[in-house]
Amino acid sequence: MLCAMNATETTVRSDDFDRARQDFPIAQRRAYLNNASIGPLSNRVVAAVDAFMADVRDNGRNNYPHWCRHADTAIKDRIGRLIGADRSEIAFVKNTTEGLAIVANGVDWRPGDNVIVPDIEYPSNVYCCMNLKRWGVELRWVKSRQGRILVEDLREAMDSRTRLVSISSVQFSNGFRHDIAATGELCRDRGVLLSLDAIQWVGALHIDMASLPVDFMAFGGHKWMLAPIGTGVFYCNKNALDKIRPSVVGYHSVDKSEDHMDYDLDFRPNAGRFEEALVNFPGIHGLDAAVQTFLELGMPRVTRHILGLTGLAADTLKRKGYEILSPWRDSERSGILSFRHPSTPADEIAQRMRDAGVDLAVRAGALRISPSFYNNSSDITRLVEALP
Ligand SMILES: Cc1ncc(COP(=O)(O)O)c(C=O)c1O
Repeated sequence: MLCAMNATETTVRSDDFDRARQDFPIAQRRAYLNNASIGPLSNRVVAAVDAFMADVRDNGRNNYPHWCRHADTAIKDRIGRLIGADRSEIAFVKNTTEGLAIVANGVDWRPGDNVIVPDIEYPSNVYCCMNLKRWGVELRWVKSRQGRILVEDLREAMDSRTRLVSISSVQFSNGFRHDIAATGELCRDRGVLLSLDAIQWVGALHIDMASLPVDFMAFGGHKWMLAPIGTGVFYCNKNALDKIRPSVVGYHSVDKSEDHMDYDLDFRPNAGRFEEALVNFPGIHGLDAAVQTFLELGMPRVTRHILGLTGLAADTLKRKGYEILSPWRDSERSGILSFRHPSTPADEIAQRMRDAGVDLAVRAGALRISPSFYNNSSDITRLVEALP
């Protein structure tokens, strides 16, 4: 679970983080504060992808059994250590959206069932649920309150036909961090499945799936994980494996991948059943390199570093007259900080910032920054000095 922390207690700079920063060429040129959109790659990640590509160039298929074994053991073990899961609970997917759809399409729906979704979700989590209408499934919206999703509102929306709650652990627009533990307990009590879109959480904040009552979780590699585009992880709690059925199946959904014509749809006894065919090995090797950096730095330290930077930015921006729009209690803030100038439109400011070498995003009409572990207080100073 997320450690209790406070921006003022954190050490924003340390030698390890300074060294990690050296591996990100973009950090030498720009104050890149847009990791919640697409994170830049480190030299280490690019080298890992290149090494895999060189292997295929030089050896063709010859190392294929090793790629499969290595991905299913060493790489999944490291991802498991990062998120507090067992390797058997992890499947490689191409993005978060695919993971959310595996759940939405995998439930054994009956007409009249319903799924609950907050009204400020990223579209990935909305469309996969809207798409269930053809099976007679009702989408129930939960209204946000000042950018927050309250557990009691989720409870209020539930009834005996509720089968699934699909929700972001951190909201993309304002960074609101949801109370996953309380929502998980509510869902368990009601026999409702819980699916998390965790792309704005993993890589920014520490998470321990083993201590959370969550059935499914997905995150793409291309944001906070600073890993290649086209990589992602789907987590399926071992107790939830048989609660959904793979909707896309292929030769890797079953265990006898070399025994091609012995047709028997006997799913692998782990989350690997959701990998229907060859996975994105080049990207996964890059993802693995990124994961190793997170493990070396330690996720609780990374979390403190990131919350230290957003805390520093919020304090300075307030003094400069900006309005902070992110929910900002210690329990609900994240790696995302959303803020607004009293009069100048966000798009106009973002353009000016780009020209000044500072990258941020505009979401829901507000400016959004999302610093990672390779950022430091000099990036925040550059941001604040360049802002009108
Ligand atoms: C909360 C959230 N979910 C999903 C996505 C899309 O991620 P992916 O491309 O991995 O499906 C985004 C991207 O901005 C996001 O912010």
